[in-house]
Amino acid sequence: MRRVFLLLCGTIGSLAAAPSFTKDIQPLLQKHCQGCHQPASKAANLDVTTYQAFAKGGQRGPAFVAGQPDQSLTVRYLLGEAKPRMPLAAEALPESEIALFRDWIRDGAKDDSPEEATETSATVYLQPPVITALKFSPDGQTLAISGNREILLHSADGKKLLHRLSGRAERILSVAFSADGKLLIAGGGTPAQFGEVQVWDVATAKLLRSARLTNDTVFGASLAPDASKIAVGCADNTVHVFETATGKELYKIGNHENWVLATVFGVDSKRFVSASGDRAAKLIDANSGAFLENVNLLRGELNAIARHPKKDVVVLGGAERYPYIYLMDRPRNMKIADDTTLVRKLERQDGAITALDWSPDGARIAVASQSAAVNLYDPETGDKKAACSGHSAGIYTVAFSPDSSKLATGGFDGKVRVYSTQDCKLLHSFVPVPLSAGAQ
Ligand code: HEC
Repeated sequence: MRRVFLLLCGTIGSLAAAPSFTKDIQPLLQKHCQGCHQPASKAANLDVTTYQAFAKGGQRGPAFVAGQPDQSLTVRYLLGEAKPRMPLAAEALPESEIALFRDWIRDGAKDDSPEEATETSATVYLQPPVITALKFSPDGQTLAISGNREILLHSADGKKLLHRLSGRAERILSVAFSADGKLLIAGGGTPAQFGEVQVWDVATAKLLRSARLTNDTVFGASLAPDASKIAVGCADNTVHVFETATGKELYKIGNHENWVLATVFGVDSKRFVSASGDRAAKLIDANSGAFLENVNLLRGELNAIARHPKKDVVVLGGAERYPYIYLMDRPRNMKIADDTTLVRKLERQDGAITALDWSPDGARIAVASQSAAVNLYDPETGDKKAACSGHSAGIYTVAFSPDSSKLATGGFDGKVRVYSTQDCKLLHSFVPVPLSAGAQ
């Protein structure tokens, strides 16, 4: 009943209301146009990634004239009245989508983009920010840490804040370095407004590319080992895959039945696994987006995934509190609800599992949960080897250093802690942001 009612309201709403830039136009631009018209590759000098840039237009002038769809270059190019028809080298947009552009322009081409922080307004912190993502750089010297509307590059010994990469997304929920350390990718967004994938140049601390998707924050962004692709999970149950070099969206998949919270690529970058609140971990062909098979037997809701450094073996965890180690591939003769790809089940945690990492030497798995300690296990035997304690509340992210000797953690209390992997001795503990006067 409720569903039918909502559907009806939606239909009536869209018949009556004028198209919105953020809800109707921007998603179309992102899907069909942004691959060629963005800061990194401005075909015809046109960038459609923000309202301002789209309004400014390209080499032939403004992309639209408010109130005059017939005079607007965008409509003329979409219809093929101006040549070549847009989107270039692809099918024409359906009439209903062209009509959205037309109606939005006719109704004044209004900008309803949310207010955004500019690069000059660095975030001021009165208290430490909740830390939701962190990773070591490949040389082990730097940690990339999520802040509010920014990513912090901090020396891994806790001594110095090196750079603040400020963007538009309020929250950063995942970060990943390319193997050569040159790129940093991030996934996040502003809740109930937009999701965003960012690609940063580490050396210059500049945003190279950004792509927006869906109307909410995105989760579990991961980078393929060869850096070619980025996969992200979404609150609308989809997974979107982007080309790192252009920021272009390659495809999206909608085969989960709940939020997709984590993704990880296989060793050869040709496949990835997505894990969701629907309890499933799905193996996907990274080139085509085709579903290959279910990795696990359904148990609890999944929040986290990590892969063995050299093998297509993953560890999964979530609401059920047990970390499960699974082979990514099933033997050909599998049966329905067959669990023969389960390698090992680790010990039950004190709370729902929030984050996992597998050390680069393969010898340890770190398990964070809604409890005060991160447990370290030997994946070969399943034995617990150490417990890294000291957190006052939830831990949301864990990362091993490239040489596997250290483990960094972050969470609700806003402190980064760096432990020795050997015995969980606390080596460094620091708040990664400058706190302004008046803070406790
Ligand atoms: C595959 C690349 C590609 C895609 C995708 C694409 N464009 Fe273009 N676009 C171009 C190129 C190249 C030109 C320059 C064409 C020329 O003048 O020969 C252009 C020109 C334009 C112009 C004219 C700008 C000016 O001032 O000259 C508009 C407007 C435009 N595109 C809008 C769009 C819209 C809207 C979409 C999405 C629906 C889109 N394009 C998708 C490549 C692309």
